[in-house]
Amino acid sequence: MVKKGSKPTLNESHRVATSGDIEVSTYLEIAKEMGGEQPVAAREARAGAEPETIIIIDFGSQYSMLIARRVRECQVYCELLPYDTPWERIASLNPKGFILSGGPASVYEPDAPLAPAYIYESHLPVLGICYGMQVITKQLGGRVAPGAKHEYGHAILHLGEVDSPLFADVAASSPVWMSHADKIEEMPPGFAALAYTENSPVAVMGNEDGIFGLQFHPEVAHTPHGKTILRNFVYQICGCKGNWTMSSFINDSITRIRKQVNKGKVIAALSGGVDSSVVATLIHRAIGDQLTCIFVNHGLLRREEVERTFNTFRLNLGMNIIYVDASERFLNRLKGIRDPEKKRKAIGEEFIRVFEEEAKKIGKVDFLAQGTLYPDVIESASSGSKASAKIKTHHNVGGLPAKMRLTLLEPLRSLFKDEVRQVGLELGLPEEMVWRQPFPGPGLAIRIIGEVTGEKLEILRNADWIVMNEIKKAKLYRQLWQSFAILTDVKSVGVMGDYRTYGYLVAVRAVNSDDAMTADWARLPYDLLNRISNRIVNEVPGVNRVVYDITSKPPSTIEWE
Ligand code: XMP
Repeated sequence: MVKKGSKPTLNESHRVATSGDIEVSTYLEIAKEMGGEQPVAAREARAGAEPETIIIIDFGSQYSMLIARRVRECQVYCELLPYDTPWERIASLNPKGFILSGGPASVYEPDAPLAPAYIYESHLPVLGICYGMQVITKQLGGRVAPGAKHEYGHAILHLGEVDSPLFADVAASSPVWMSHADKIEEMPPGFAALAYTENSPVAVMGNEDGIFGLQFHPEVAHTPHGKTILRNFVYQICGCKGNWTMSSFINDSITRIRKQVNKGKVIAALSGGVDSSVVATLIHRAIGDQLTCIFVNHGLLRREEVERTFNTFRLNLGMNIIYVDASERFLNRLKGIRDPEKKRKAIGEEFIRVFEEEAKKIGKVDFLAQGTLYPDVIESASSGSKASAKIKTHHNVGGLPAKMRLTLLEPLRSLFKDEVRQVGLELGLPEEMVWRQPFPGPGLAIRIIGEVTGEKLEILRNADWIVMNEIKKAKLYRQLWQSFAILTDVKSVGVMGDYRTYGYLVAVRAVNSDDAMTADWARLPYDLLNRISNRIVNEVPGVNRVVYDITSKPPSTIEWE
């Protein structure tokens, strides 16, 4: 085992391929197509006078992004990088320690991904989680074997005799979440078992060089002390100071935006959504009137949304905004289209056309601001994710005018959504805007099944208003990922007073989710559903039946389309 402080040496048995250009992502291809420069690297968007980074090496676990979020919640900057990231890139980030994520592979498979040699040679602390622990075991000379029993779900972790700073403030026995088949049969030389569960005699191991392995997942909510363990790792073992705060992020971003833009001109598409609002406000704070926002009203927004957005940005924040009411134009373009993909395409193309027309009127523009967030960056950069990256660009209707020759300005590239919200609040945006639930770029068009018409938009706007109103009154708006109405193209028979009715069926959807990749339907109280249903049928002409969607994602999606 290499000793702390000794000169790093390469050991062939530890080495894995570090070739492969991880920077070439679909995202960058899009940027290149636009004639833009390479976007500002995420690391340049970091905060703190003395940047410190925890590097999370991603072996493909479904929880990898969650590890990153937990570390950020400890006010420590981190980046999630593929296991074949070259050392030069890592070194430029001033790493303070490594976390090796879980993953679906088995270390004894022939092509199993391993940790690059530099991780051990750097003499920085390492925390392996699940598969990451097995990687450490294999690479440092221990033995991993298929477990006789798969351990999945809750287990009780009992701390052993050996004291470790990793367990400061952690109870002697506490629940943890397990999800593994393989287990540690023999620890590498120099390691001691620090904790055990009923099925895992080595549930935690560690050595004196600050290398640890956890068989369970500290990042998930089912491990209540997990965040404390991660906090102990980054503070006590890696020596981080916790200089990642949103106010330092804002200050750094303002300096950087001023430097990058200089005397140039920036345009941004404003939609009223959290990301575009925060981007615009941050850039406006940095360069004032050098920023022009273009707000295209495609007529597919919800009730009062146009007025609220416009008032916030033009009246309260004094921004330069070009407002375009293109609702008629979009409605004409959507005439006769029933297919959801064709609808999306039509809206996307029309949006770009309107945006370009308006941008041309401004004269010379140098930068296009975008609300790209860290999850998009990770998704585009991770290997084999081209398909999902494509789904994103397709999603971002308010996105990319393909023919414009502009440099991208993406000040939120290193942030998670919850961090963006904090930045928004610190910049003084109204809570209502900062906590807005996600709303799709193509708007109500994908919540109207079949052809979009003015009449249907009005019905949906009214129904949606009631859903939002009741959900807010029940104080559930923030805790739900999304809650909204859908106008189906089903009509059914009803009876109101003495009359037979033949009206539309409205569906209500409310889901809980962390990231929209998966979602569960919300168990709304019956009396709330009852109020929503009664109000919609009574107050929205043309609707005589309401149903509640009780499917999760997968197999459904959140939007109906
Ligand atoms: P689905 O329906 O695929 O939606 O489960 C996942 C999340 O993405 C949102 N969504 C969009 N967001 N432009 C956006 O900005 C879009 O075109 C779009 N389509 C879906 C959806 O509301 C949910 O939060």
